[in-house]
Amino acid sequence: MGDQTRPNVHTPPPGPRSAALMKRADEILLGVSLIGGWPPNHFVSRYRDGWFIEDVDGNRYLDWINGWASAPLGGNHPELVAAAHQGLVDYGTECLSALRVEHQWLLAEKLHEIAPPPLTKVVYDTTGSEVVENAVRIMREAAGPGRPFVITFLGSFHGGNYGTGAMGPHNAHYNHAIEPFMSGWINVPFPTCYRCPYHLAYPACDIACLDYIEEVVLKYKATPESIAGVAVELVQGENGVQIPPPEWPVRLYDLCQKHGWIFYNDEVQEGVGRTGKWFAIEHWQGVEAELLSLGKGISGGLMPLACTLGSDRMSAPAGKLYTGGTFAGNPAACLMAAKLLEIIERDHVLDNVVELEKVAKAKFGAMKEKYEIVGDVRVLGAYMCVEFVEDKESKTPAHELTREIVYAMERRGVVPIYEPAFNYFRPTPALNQPPDLFALGCDLVEECVAEVSAAHGKGVK
Ligand SMILES: Cc1ncc(COP(=O)(O)O)c(C=O)c1O
Repeated sequence: MGDQTRPNVHTPPPGPRSAALMKRADEILLGVSLIGGWPPNHFVSRYRDGWFIEDVDGNRYLDWINGWASAPLGGNHPELVAAAHQGLVDYGTECLSALRVEHQWLLAEKLHEIAPPPLTKVVYDTTGSEVVENAVRIMREAAGPGRPFVITFLGSFHGGNYGTGAMGPHNAHYNHAIEPFMSGWINVPFPTCYRCPYHLAYPACDIACLDYIEEVVLKYKATPESIAGVAVELVQGENGVQIPPPEWPVRLYDLCQKHGWIFYNDEVQEGVGRTGKWFAIEHWQGVEAELLSLGKGISGGLMPLACTLGSDRMSAPAGKLYTGGTFAGNPAACLMAAKLLEIIERDHVLDNVVELEKVAKAKFGAMKEKYEIVGDVRVLGAYMCVEFVEDKESKTPAHELTREIVYAMERRGVVPIYEPAFNYFRPTPALNQPPDLFALGCDLVEECVAEVSAAHGKGVK
């Protein structure tokens, strides 16, 4: 079995069993193939335990994928498994759909307790993509007729269906077969400061990118009265954890107040503690969303669950719409989510996120100082990104080097969120991953960065 407290890769992936299954995948799974570089890992997992993934060849990896940021307490948390089981015992294998079930109230009360003002109410959905579209429908209904437009931010990822796929959009590589885009979205620049679209530098820029809305959009595309609101991911996750400068959310919020636009924050990935607070929006004092969606993490990682929190003012418009669906707010998922929130509070998990943040800033920050190819490091709580470049001066995205580093990490037993289309990876530990274990993973990352730097003759200080 080996040491169960650390990663252990004894058979370089893919091991023989993984290789056989992946070969078979080409024959029986629709569109799942390593040929296209996806999924990016070279193993097939069979077991998930705490902070580790075990593959079918018995290798053990430190999990920094975390169910794509959907399992705040890691895998197989016994109390969450027990809550889910209780939900199944209470309500069998049926979803409520057209019934009212007590378990939904339990979760709603808990959300009501922790939600920042003016959010007081909740409506359930099943997935993140669905909940975002439904939140926008509520926004449009609340804004009233004659306001078809919604301002969205380039690079944001809001989901993979026709509506959400066109919202950011997230990335040109991901748009195939979503084009031609649905209309109604006004896509504007997000403050991606390391690669500023205007080639300016913060703070001297005075956040010029936000002026695009008043100086360009309102002049050429839409009057303020034709816009329902703004849909934003205050920290863009899939786009490489883009953290806006402190004034940006405040100024965006002020713009909404000035023009009577509804402010909607998509916290499907950044909510439920990922940034070190229950809700990411709480990082910016005075910024208030009237609609805010949760997905991923609220599920605890197992039973699909999403929801939108809304202000009192959003309640009547929401009541006019059919949102949700067959599996929305299923009883076992609600019970598990309520337990999840209870554990996060009871075990001071948000404090642990702050510790993870400190480790990440120290370890990855030092790597940025030392290695020519580490271009940028962005960290807010356990929301983290390490971006690689050919050299610091040109900032040319280093896709191949990133791929080599991530594969070297896999061979050492650390697997982050990574997509071959990008020149960054995102360490995404469970929120309760022990800081020492996380630090060990960071040290293994550094070994890989050093190895790849040396292999390519890249500078090291
Ligand atoms: C911010 C955000 N919104 C929405 C979604 C879509 O969620 P789902 O994959 O559950 O449809 C994601 C998924 O990554 C996300 O990060």
